[in-house]
Amino acid sequence: MTSFSKIVSSKWTGHRNALLSLVCCAIASPLLAQQPLKTLLVGVDHRTVTSLDGNWHYLVDQPPARALYAPDGKVNDKTYALNTHPNIDSGPHNAEYDFATAPTLKVPGDWNTQDPTLFRYEGVIWYQRDFGFEPKPNTRTFLHIGAANYKSFVWVNQKRICDHEGGFTPFDCEVTAALKPGNNFVVIAVDSTREVDGIPSVGIDWFNYGGLTRDVSLVTVPMQFIDDYDIHLKHGSTFSAADATTLTGYVHVVGATAGTPVTLRIPEAGVDTTLKTDADGRAPFEVKASKLELWSHETPKLYKVELASGSGDQQDKLTDDIGFRDIRVDGTRILLNGKAIFLQGVNEHAEAPYRTGRVCTDEDVKNIFGFLKDMNANFVRLAHYPHDERMEREADRDGIMIWSEIPLWQHISFDKPEVYAKATYMLNEMIRRDRDKASVILWSVSNETPNNPTRTQFLTNLANEARRLDPTRPITSAIIGPHAKGNEMVENDPLTNALDVVGQNEYVGWYEGRPEDADNIKWTLPQKPILISEFGAEAKQGNHGGKDQRWTEEQQVNVYEHQFVMINKIPQVRGLIPWILMDFRSPTRNIPKLQDGFNRKGLISEDGKKKQAFYLFQKTYKEHSVGKAE
Ligand code: GCU
Repeated sequence: MTSFSKIVSSKWTGHRNALLSLVCCAIASPLLAQQPLKTLLVGVDHRTVTSLDGNWHYLVDQPPARALYAPDGKVNDKTYALNTHPNIDSGPHNAEYDFATAPTLKVPGDWNTQDPTLFRYEGVIWYQRDFGFEPKPNTRTFLHIGAANYKSFVWVNQKRICDHEGGFTPFDCEVTAALKPGNNFVVIAVDSTREVDGIPSVGIDWFNYGGLTRDVSLVTVPMQFIDDYDIHLKHGSTFSAADATTLTGYVHVVGATAGTPVTLRIPEAGVDTTLKTDADGRAPFEVKASKLELWSHETPKLYKVELASGSGDQQDKLTDDIGFRDIRVDGTRILLNGKAIFLQGVNEHAEAPYRTGRVCTDEDVKNIFGFLKDMNANFVRLAHYPHDERMEREADRDGIMIWSEIPLWQHISFDKPEVYAKATYMLNEMIRRDRDKASVILWSVSNETPNNPTRTQFLTNLANEARRLDPTRPITSAIIGPHAKGNEMVENDPLTNALDVVGQNEYVGWYEGRPEDADNIKWTLPQKPILISEFGAEAKQGNHGGKDQRWTEEQQVNVYEHQFVMINKIPQVRGLIPWILMDFRSPTRNIPKLQDGFNRKGLISEDGKKKQAFYLFQKTYKEHSVGKAE
C-alpha cells in the first residue's frame, strides 16, 4: 500500500494523526511537505506497454458502498476484489455477484456518458478484467493508470496492490509479485464521491465524471529502470546565447548503484554522452549541443531523445520527443527564448467535443486542437486540473503553449495539513508527468480561492514547492475578480506576492455590472505579467437578439468588445484567456432551454457549433489587436 494512501485516506485515522505532526510543521517549512512520490514512470506513452484498455466488467456499489467500505471505514479485501463466481445451485451465499457475466464499460472513459443509468451516478463502481501475461525473470511490472476519478483501490489476482487519491494525475502500482503465468485478473474500485477535504472539494462548477477516465496499461521494465528524467535548456539568471545550446537536468534509474552508466543521445542535436548515477540512482548532467533549434509557437521543434541504462537483458531503453525552450518573466513581460510574447489563448475543460464526457482519445484531442488553430490561438489554459497527456503531446507538436494546474478550486480545506500533503502529492504528479513538455510554460497552484491568511500561507508554500520541483517555469494562479468601487477595480490579494505571473479572473459585463461599464474601469494590478485568465458571458448558440439581451450571441460579443477596451488600458496584460472554448456540463447550470445542465460561456457549443464570439477572437488574434507583448 502506498505511503500516499496512508496520508490521505481519512478512513485510517491512525496514519493521519502521525501525519498531522509531520505536515503541521510542513506548513511552516514547505520542504518537509514534499511527499516522496512512489514510483511514477515518466514517458510511459513512449514505452512498449501491454494495454489494458477495452471493455471491463463492472458492478455498481451504491452508497454507502458496503462492498468496498466496511462499517469501520476500512477497505474490504474479501468482497468483489476476490472475483469469485457464484455456483447458482449451491454457491456460498455471500458471493452474490459475478463479474464474468456483468455488463461492461469502455476503458478509458467516464461511466456517466456510457450508460444513461449511470449519468448522474456518483459513488463506487468496481471494474474487473482478465488478462494474459507471461512474467519474465529479472523484470518488474507496474500497472500504469493515466487517471481515475476520484479515489482508486487496486487488486491483482486477489492481492491488494495500491490505493490512489486524485482524479486527474497518473499513478503506477507495482504488480510484479501478484502476477502469474497465463490468466490473471485485475479489480479496481473507483469512488467518484466528492469530499469536503478532497482536491477539488465538493462545490465544483463542472461535471464530476467518474471512472477509469484515462488509459490503463502494464509496463514491464528491468530490475534497474529509468523512471524519471528532466532534460531542459540550461536556465540561468538571464537567457543567454550560451545557454541556448546547453542542456542540463538528470536521469533517474531506480535500483541503480553508484556509477551505473546512463547514455543520453540526441542525434539531431549532436549529443551523445554517457552519464554516471550517484548513490541515489540519479545522473545529473550538463552537455553542449552542437546545434539546437529552440521550440516556439512558430517553430515547435521536437528532438528524438534516446535514454538507456544498464546492459544486456538488464538494459532499460526509452525514447521521448522533447522540445527545448526558455520561458521566464522579466519585469512585467513574459519572455520565450528571450523574446517578449503575448498569449492569445482560451480556457478549456476536458469535455469531449460532440460526444461530451471526459476527453480521453486521439479524436477528442484532434477536435480541440482544430478549434484552437482555427481561433488563431497560441495558448490554452487547461482548466482546472491536469488533462489527458495527449493534450500536452499535441501542444508540443503544434506549438500551443499551456497553463497547467492542479484542482485547488475555490473552497478547499486549507486549514488541514493532510490536505496540504495531498496538494503537494498532486503537484508532484503533475510536474513529474509533464516537466519535459516544452508546451507547458506555467504551473498553476489554484483557482479563485478565498483571500485569507491560512489559504495564502498554504498556497505560498505550494508555489515555493512548485519552484523547488521545477525552477525553470514561472508559477501562477487565477485570482477571483475584485468588486468594482465606482470605476475602480483594485487587485490586492496577497497571494499575488507569491506568483511570477498573475492570473486575473473577472467578469465585468456578466457577473459584475453592465458590458459598457468596462469602458470606464480603471484597474490597479501588481507590477507583474497579468493574464486575464477568465472573462466572458453566457450565450446559447443560435439564440439571437439585441446586443444588450443576455444569453444571446450578440450580447456575448458585446461583453467582449467592451472588455477589450478595458484590457487595452492595462499595460502589464500579457495574455487573454476567455472563459471558455466550449460549453461544458455543470450540475449548477440549470436554466431550462438556456443552460439545461451546461455552462454556456463557450465560444463554441458542446456540439461544435461556433458562436459569433468565436469569430471575434479569431479576428482579434489574427490582427493582434488587443494587448501588447511589451
Ligand atoms: C469561475 C470559475 C470557473 C467557472 C466560471 C463561471 O471563474 O473559475 O470554473 O466555470 O467562473 O462562473 O462560469
